[in-house]
Amino acid sequence: MCGIMGYVGEENAADIIIDGLEKLEYRGYDSAGMAVTDCGKLAVKKVVGSPSGLRKFSDGLIGKIGIGHTRWATHGAPTVENAHPHCSMSGLFTVVHNGIIENYAELKAELEADGYIFKSDTDTEVIAHLLEKEYNRDLKGTVSAALTKLKGSYALGILCADYPDIIVCAKLSSPLFAGTSSGGAYLASDASAIASRCDRLYRLGDGEIGILAKDSFKVYDIDGCRIRKSEVKIKSYDGTLDKGGYEHFMLKEIHEQPVAVRRTLSEIIDEKRRIKFKNFKMTVQDAKKIQKISFVACGSAYHVGMVGAYACERFLHINSEACVASEYRYKNPVINENTLVVVISQSGETADTLAALRLAKRSGAKVVSIVNVENSTIAQESDSVIFTRAGKEVAVATTKAYSAQLAVVYALILYLAVKVGTMNRKDCDSYVGELCVLPEKIEQILSDESKFEKLADTVVDSDYICFIGRGFDYCAVAEASLKLKEVSYIPCESYPAGELKHGTISLIDEKSLIIAMCCSDELRTKTVSNINEATARGARSITISDTEDADIQVPKIADIFSVLIEVIPSQLIAYYTAKKRNCEIDKPRNLAKSVTVE
Ligand code: G6P
Repeated sequence: MCGIMGYVGEENAADIIIDGLEKLEYRGYDSAGMAVTDCGKLAVKKVVGSPSGLRKFSDGLIGKIGIGHTRWATHGAPTVENAHPHCSMSGLFTVVHNGIIENYAELKAELEADGYIFKSDTDTEVIAHLLEKEYNRDLKGTVSAALTKLKGSYALGILCADYPDIIVCAKLSSPLFAGTSSGGAYLASDASAIASRCDRLYRLGDGEIGILAKDSFKVYDIDGCRIRKSEVKIKSYDGTLDKGGYEHFMLKEIHEQPVAVRRTLSEIIDEKRRIKFKNFKMTVQDAKKIQKISFVACGSAYHVGMVGAYACERFLHINSEACVASEYRYKNPVINENTLVVVISQSGETADTLAALRLAKRSGAKVVSIVNVENSTIAQESDSVIFTRAGKEVAVATTKAYSAQLAVVYALILYLAVKVGTMNRKDCDSYVGELCVLPEKIEQILSDESKFEKLADTVVDSDYICFIGRGFDYCAVAEASLKLKEVSYIPCESYPAGELKHGTISLIDEKSLIIAMCCSDELRTKTVSNINEATARGARSITISDTEDADIQVPKIADIFSVLIEVIPSQLIAYYTAKKRNCEIDKPRNLAKSVTVE
């Protein structure tokens, strides 16, 4: 969460930093700030809102070294005072920080007792004062000493007035990258913000301290010993920040789903329609040893995991579960070497998902991750990785990454079903055939958006929306409901259709809307009865199904794949509803795309 940028070199730092912060906005966008030093003179500017707001201060931010930050508030409201950078009392140290300092209250009390005066409500400000308190003219030693007092997670960019030509950086459980080129050295919490400017790129490790100067980047361990870092492969980060003629990134990305799914599948299904993962292989023997499969993820990725768990039990006959990553550790999961843990994450940086992955690995499970970002921490730490090829996703509410994750999960289940022997090759081939036509079916739905725009009129003035479905349809409504609430701010929930009457039905009145998904022939009549229970009490309803009588008819497909088909109309309804309500579609309030705090 939050984004860090830093630059030292021959060019004007402010331009480079603002440019980088704009690329990092998906990590948080409630306030931003920057500090630039010119001939030892420090200038700090902060704004509430997006980092582009800093552009108005460009004239006052002259200098060739600086650090910047885009914030997603955790400690203290999104105000100018709480925006980073934060300075120590005398102005000796200036700090930008991602993560959470868990013992900040104790540290703050100690520092206040020592006479330090705090100007913000943030946990970050303690770091600035602590550095000043520990300062002994040895900068590296001072930073080490301060870091040992911090508990929690951090990625830091630090300026020290006594060393006007360098930026110090450090990290623990929060990603941080540095890069170098003939034009200078760069710091960022995400490689994509600086990759295009660098000739060499490095990922800082936990407990390491880095020193960036205009012509060098040196890394030390906490005891001050030099560490030789190996370079990270620089990828060309596709998906320029270009809306390609669409009004919003969300709409563009909804339309990119056929390509995202096709590209993802083309890497894992060969010309003979055999499923092959570059980095994940299981022998029949290994597959047969699996006693439990756990899908662990957050947000939309968790909804992909739900589909995975339903499909595993059905096709593999193996105990399976989908777990919200933030709860995984607290449910004392039963994990051993016969457990397969499937970690799903677009960003590859979600803190709770990463913590769950680490627990699973410590407990002896085999961990395979499904990740969209190649250099991400989750990709690095998993036993095996299967990459989704959704390309860069800009809109905070995920669409194309979700679809690409689903495509991988489908392929993974078919692959494992053949290995464990619960599916014969012929049936698998037939499913793979259907999987490969999913992009076309998505295209079909996207070919006429007008009906979704019209339906948004029904949705827009609902006070409460309840999505219902059974089986795979339930997995689809979980995602549909999240999408709509994220972008339109209308209170929505998703329920297994049969559960509605166990309490939730008391919320139903004439201002309520029931959106039901029912692509399963087997379950249709039951779900229809549940819709009737709600409409009998005054609710309006919208049905999404593959039958002619549905309000939205989607193409027919095997029910395991129906989630990916049903979800597309719900994304468009969410988009057009949010548009009618004048919401900030690409950057909904209070959200962030990459959630690197627990
Ligand atoms: C945030 C995003 C969601 C995403 C979730 C998990 O909440 O807004 O769209 O599903 O994080 O993110 P990940 O990067 O792990 O898939």
